[in-house]
Amino acid sequence: MAQQYDLVVIGGGPGGYEAAIRAAQLGYKVACIEKRIHNGKPSMGGTCLNVGCIPSKALLDSSHRYESTQHDLQAHGITTGDVSIDIATMQARKTKVVEQLTGGVAQLLKGNGIDWLQGTGKLLAGKKVEFTPLEGLDSKAAEVQTLEPKYVILASGSVPVNIPVAPVDEALIVDSTGALAFDQVPATLGVIGAGVIGLELGSVWRRLGSQVVIFEALDSFLPMADKALAKETQKVLTKQGLDIRLNAKVTATETKDGKVTVKYNQAGEDKEQTFDKLIVCVGRKPYAEGLLSDDAGITLTERGFVEVDDQCKTSVDGVYAIGDLVRGPMLAHKAMEEGVMAVERIHGHAAQVNYDTIISVIYTFPEVAWVGLSEESAKEKGIEVKTGQFPFAVNGRALAAGEPAGFVKFVADAKTDRLLGMHVLGSGAGDMVHQGMIALEFVSSVEDLQLMTFAHPTLSEAVHEAALSVDGRAIHA
Ligand code: FAD
Ligand code: NAI
Repeated sequence: MAQQYDLVVIGGGPGGYEAAIRAAQLGYKVACIEKRIHNGKPSMGGTCLNVGCIPSKALLDSSHRYESTQHDLQAHGITTGDVSIDIATMQARKTKVVEQLTGGVAQLLKGNGIDWLQGTGKLLAGKKVEFTPLEGLDSKAAEVQTLEPKYVILASGSVPVNIPVAPVDEALIVDSTGALAFDQVPATLGVIGAGVIGLELGSVWRRLGSQVVIFEALDSFLPMADKALAKETQKVLTKQGLDIRLNAKVTATETKDGKVTVKYNQAGEDKEQTFDKLIVCVGRKPYAEGLLSDDAGITLTERGFVEVDDQCKTSVDGVYAIGDLVRGPMLAHKAMEEGVMAVERIHGHAAQVNYDTIISVIYTFPEVAWVGLSEESAKEKGIEVKTGQFPFAVNGRALAAGEPAGFVKFVADAKTDRLLGMHVLGSGAGDMVHQGMIALEFVSSVEDLQLMTFAHPTLSEAVHEAALSVDGRAIHA
């Protein structure tokens, strides 16, 4: 007879595994079904740990060290001689980091008494779950089981969007997964999509020596970001050598003689360019393939997301859905908090995710980060806004470190002084922006930030100065 579970989580990404752990902490008997095989082994951690957040940051870090060792050290009086990079070693380090973390998650599940069922989960009618084990792992467990848990959390994540004009062939045309695994630096690299992945992975390979061209269909750069932030980011990344072509619609690709030619239309003119590799990163879509039987009772939206309410409840009582599979930003931290919220709700707690304070970070160098409303979105909501901006170019610590690019910007309500948003371009922006998130959560006024004492010399002093500058009071500008 199949094991009885209180909760079955389908998907072991950041949303699913955090939900499983929180439920075990609350005393539930939990199974987490995960089917992923990575580097030939079953692997926990989802997109994020295996082929997303973590490997991309490992490569961003390696490539940043390589570039700064090559270019930035002379000013400090440091001579290094010839600097070279061994891509195999860099990739092996990335794999080690990934395995350390995915192994760590498996251990965490074990330590919390959670059963990792290695295989595929499918929600059936009546909240039942069909579990099909991965083939060839354990002959004893190799039969399909039907589980009858009290609760189910669907956390099957997302996959890259494919476009017919550039079909991924895993050789010359790759998606983000392929672009994390190049075994040599392509001399020329095309990227379709100037979104988060295009900028991060485009930066990785540019730093390592590729000539990178990014084709973006829209005529604006990072349209979801504050305009001032997007404009300065585009300027900084372009200066670094990323060739970002806006209003450039790819119409066809052709692979021949180990090269890929991109045909595109830019502002009405047909053009083409040939590359060694091409990355397609034009967004991700929810992944629900084989997840639901026809009579499972779950409603999907037009775009294939599982429909949920603000607390991640689906159309079936006792079944929740979280993370990339549902509406909202496709971010690991959003998935994690939804997982915890769903479990806390099951437990009767009034848990809530504050979707207004979910941070966005683009891990280029300098980093780009924001939380809350942009100046434009606040105005669109009819709010009378006041703003303040302070550049790192006059921040002592940034200058001492030789990292003067960027600024901190605050958007606030002109009538009430309430803080509405924080936008940062700069070294460490992804960490610094958490100050804004905490301030927003505590419904701070700009004056609250103005009255606080920030340590000197720190990059965070720019946060203080930006708050002061909202009222024309910045000391160093
Ligand atoms: P996933 O992580 O996608 O996990 C879902 C898991 O479910 C998968 O492992 C899948 O194998 C499994 N699964 C699916 N269907 C079934 C089934 N029927 N049975 C069993 N198992 C199943 N986000 C950030 O916040 N910060 C970043 O820096 C960041 N960097 C990224 C870089 C890249 C290159 C990419 C591609 C993404 C990045 N993301 C980042 C996004 C982040 O990875 C996702 O938002 C996050 O992983 C979503 O978590 P999830 O738990 O919803 O789904
Ligand atoms: P994205 O949505 O960030 O960007 C895709 C870009 O491609 C957009 O600018 C879009 O206008 C453009 N585009 C779409 N179709 C196009 C076409 N046919 N031709 C040219 N351009 C086209 O998606 P991306 O970069 O693929 O990333 C997917 C998601 O993964 C992100 O939205 C984010 O949720 C997550 N992610 C998060 C990271 C982080 O938090 N640092 C890092 C990487 C990914």
